[in-house]
Amino acid sequence: MKIAVLTSGGDAPGMNAAIRAVVRTAIHYGIEAYGVMDGYKGLVEGRIKRLERNDVSQILNRGGTILGSSRLDDFYKIAIQKKAIANLKELEIDVLVVIGGDGTYRGAIALSKLDYPCIALPGTIDNDIPSTEYTIGFFTALDTAIDAIDKLRDTSFSHQRCTVVEVMGRNCGDLAVYAGIACGAEIVITKDTGYSWEMVYDEALHAKQLGKRHLVIIVAEHIIDVQKLAHDIETHSPYEARATVLGYIQRGGNPSTYDRILASKMGTYAVELCRQGIVNQAVFTKSLDLGHCSLQEALAVEQKPSDLYEYLPKLN
Ligand code: F6P
Repeated sequence: MKIAVLTSGGDAPGMNAAIRAVVRTAIHYGIEAYGVMDGYKGLVEGRIKRLERNDVSQILNRGGTILGSSRLDDFYKIAIQKKAIANLKELEIDVLVVIGGDGTYRGAIALSKLDYPCIALPGTIDNDIPSTEYTIGFFTALDTAIDAIDKLRDTSFSHQRCTVVEVMGRNCGDLAVYAGIACGAEIVITKDTGYSWEMVYDEALHAKQLGKRHLVIIVAEHIIDVQKLAHDIETHSPYEARATVLGYIQRGGNPSTYDRILASKMGTYAVELCRQGIVNQAVFTKSLDLGHCSLQEALAVEQKPSDLYEYLPKLN
């Protein structure tokens, strides 16, 4: 059996850990592993290379993707999809594992409709794949955003200012709302909260009345012009204001513990699916739900060994 892996769309911390898990698990089972360079673009151009276990050494902890990534707008064209499949078939590759966001998933759906087997892993800082609770890269990007917002808070407090921070997320407000909770932001603006100037203005007046020295407003991208919002706040409210667009810094950096483990588990899981012939699947996680039990039950239930043990021999 032969499996190829590619990363596509906006890169996300943890993609490398997922690549490593796919390659190491495949080799563990005697499956040949291949890496496609630069996403679907490299696939169409036939840039596919054999990967051995040492090719994925020293990458678990690294941000970005060693395979490179791209966005290929033309991939909706059937002729281009057929070319991609021909390149995979020429190397007798049986399954393609794609790691990326919604555009990457659409590519995999297109290939599967042409009868080429694919498996998709969610790799995007946006956390916008509906089937999964969390995507690979989301929590690392969140940590980066939180670290930056904490710093902005320091200077904003010193100068009694309002800080307006734009975070990424494409059409998804998760980075904004999670950062808002983790940083104690006064206002979070996403497509789901909606935006009105009156709401911001009233909140600024209220904050001043409460004696707050500063105000943190977190805005998801593509909602409003944060520079204009800061200007309006400074002009009309009691606060001076500054805007910061966090931008691409959120995409880089070493993956967090959570993303390393999620990516390692998902990469291994993808290969297990391939081995069982279960293809055209999207891997997901649903893990952080809350629940409750009686105080007695909390200690009475037997603690099972972590399911992570089963990943150790394959990934080492
Ligand atoms: O999907 C990840 C992401 O960083 C989004 O948050 C953002 O809207 C987009 O990619 C930026 O895309 P590009 O890298 O093509 O500029």
